[in-house]
Amino acid sequence: MPLEHVAIIMDGNRRWADLRRYPRLKGHQEGVKSLKRLVRHVGERKLKYLTVYAFSSENWQRTEEEVNYLFELFGRVLTEEFAELAENGVRLTFLGQLAAMPPKLRKSMENTMQKTAGNTGLSLQVAINYGARLEITDAVKKIAQQVKAGLLDPADITEEMISDNLYTGGMPDPELLIRTGGEMRLSNYLLWQSAYTELFVTQTLWPEFSPEHFDQAIADFAQRNRRWGGD
Ligand code: FPP
Repeated sequence: MPLEHVAIIMDGNRRWADLRRYPRLKGHQEGVKSLKRLVRHVGERKLKYLTVYAFSSENWQRTEEEVNYLFELFGRVLTEEFAELAENGVRLTFLGQLAAMPPKLRKSMENTMQKTAGNTGLSLQVAINYGARLEITDAVKKIAQQVKAGLLDPADITEEMISDNLYTGGMPDPELLIRTGGEMRLSNYLLWQSAYTELFVTQTLWPEFSPEHFDQAIADFAQRNRRWGGD
C-alpha cells in the first residue's frame, strides 16, 4: 500500500516528565530528541512527507513560562539542527498563522523555509500556531477574494480548490495519522486533509516514541483495508 505522507500528533511530553518527577519543560526537551530520531529514520525509509503538530492555536492557553520556553526551544532547534537538515536534503515548512509568532522566531522560520525550499529529500512540515478550522477559514477567505474580484463563479468551487488553498496546498493528504499519548481525538489537526486518513493511536508518550514504534505503526497500516467509502 503506498505510503507517502505520515502526520503525527506528538502528545505526552509533560506526562512523561510528571511520571519521572522531572520539571515539565524537560519533557519538551526529550520530545525534541524523539523528533530528531524520527526525522533521521523516516529519511532513511524514503518517506516523502512528515507533518508534525508542534504548537496548536489553543496552546497559547498554557502558562506564559511554558509558551516562552517552547518558542525558545523551537528557535534553538532551528539554529542547532539546520545544518544537518540541510545536509540531508530536508525541506522544512511551517504550517500555521506565522504572523502571530515572536518576530525573531518568525524570521528564523522564514529563513529556514527559504533556504531549504529547493531541497528534494524529506518534506518536513511543522505545524506551529496551527488550527485546522483557522486553516480552512483562511482558505475560504482566499477563494472568496477571487469570487469578489469576479475571477471565479461560486458554482465552480471544487474540493481540489479548497485543498490547494490550505497551508498544505500541493501536498498529498496523509495516508496515516499517528497520535502518541493515548487520546482518541484529532484536536483540530488537519481536519480537511484527514478525511480518509487511517488513524493510529498509541499509549506511548512522545518522548519514548522510537523508530521501532514508528515501524510498528506502518506495519499496522499495511494490514488495513482502505475502502475510501466504497465496497
Ligand atoms: C505535547 O506534549 C507536545 C507539545 C505541546 C509540543 C511540543 C513538541 C515538542 C517540543 C517536540 C519537538 C518539536 C519541535 C518542532 C522541535 P504535551 O505538553 O501536550 O504533553 P501532555 O499531553 O503530557 O500534557
